[in-house]
Amino acid sequence: MASRARGVLIAGNWKMNHSLRETQAFFSALPELPKAVGLTVAVFPPFLSLQRALDLAPVQGILVGAQNVHWERSGAFTGEVSGPMLEEIGVRWALVGHSERRQYFGESDLTAHNRAASLLEQGFHVILCIGETRAEREIGRTQEVLVNQIRGAFGDSGDAPTEATARMARHLGGRLVIAYEPVWAIGTGLTATPEQAEEAHLMVRAELAARFTPPVAQKTQILYGGSVTPQNVDQLLACPNIDGALVGGASLKPENFAALVSAGARALTKS
Ligand code: PGA
Repeated sequence: MASRARGVLIAGNWKMNHSLRETQAFFSALPELPKAVGLTVAVFPPFLSLQRALDLAPVQGILVGAQNVHWERSGAFTGEVSGPMLEEIGVRWALVGHSERRQYFGESDLTAHNRAASLLEQGFHVILCIGETRAEREIGRTQEVLVNQIRGAFGDSGDAPTEATARMARHLGGRLVIAYEPVWAIGTGLTATPEQAEEAHLMVRAELAARFTPPVAQKTQILYGGSVTPQNVDQLLACPNIDGALVGGASLKPENFAALVSAGARALTKS
């Protein structure tokens, strides 16, 4: 499969930034975005700003997703938001397993699995985030960490794939996207080089091929995230196994976000 057949996804993870007022200002100042066949653009605002983003983003064809969603549909889970609540306002995308959730809020492969499996069942598009820490990379454990995170997130015990694993895997190449985000590159200004990112994406694809099938691995979109900027995005998107970018800091300013989306369109037309 030609790499660009998977399309390009440019996603802005706003994290805990952009209040209602700032969300309004972001969309008011956003330049007209280029359109290209195969290009998908999404933003992930904080919960309180979702409705405002939903009012303003569709004019430019931008999708709106949540940064986190509980796996149960309702109940006694103080501080959480459920899939049906998001669906009611029109949110159909979600991030799962982001390293900041893992680092600061005790998230694990198990909670990533619970969220991803439930959201996929509920019809959501899910971006599942994985990535190694600096220490893990330095001692040569990158591949092992990525493989373990994939297995954990798929609810795969390591022997024969379980029923839950198979149910999730059916969405690869469809509503389930993987984002490789090396923890050492997130918010640090230290981007993985295109070679390092491509190498890790190949590891992810190889694991999906081994665990599921090579065609499933080939059609899975794998995004890169970690200090992506308008300056380095073209080089990253030029790599055959990088199918888009999940961008934090550089997605917050309208002109930067537009530049990232333009790079996505360029990557598609170059191929
Ligand atoms: P960053 O964040 O672009 O600010 O490094 C990326 C992410 O956490 O998704």
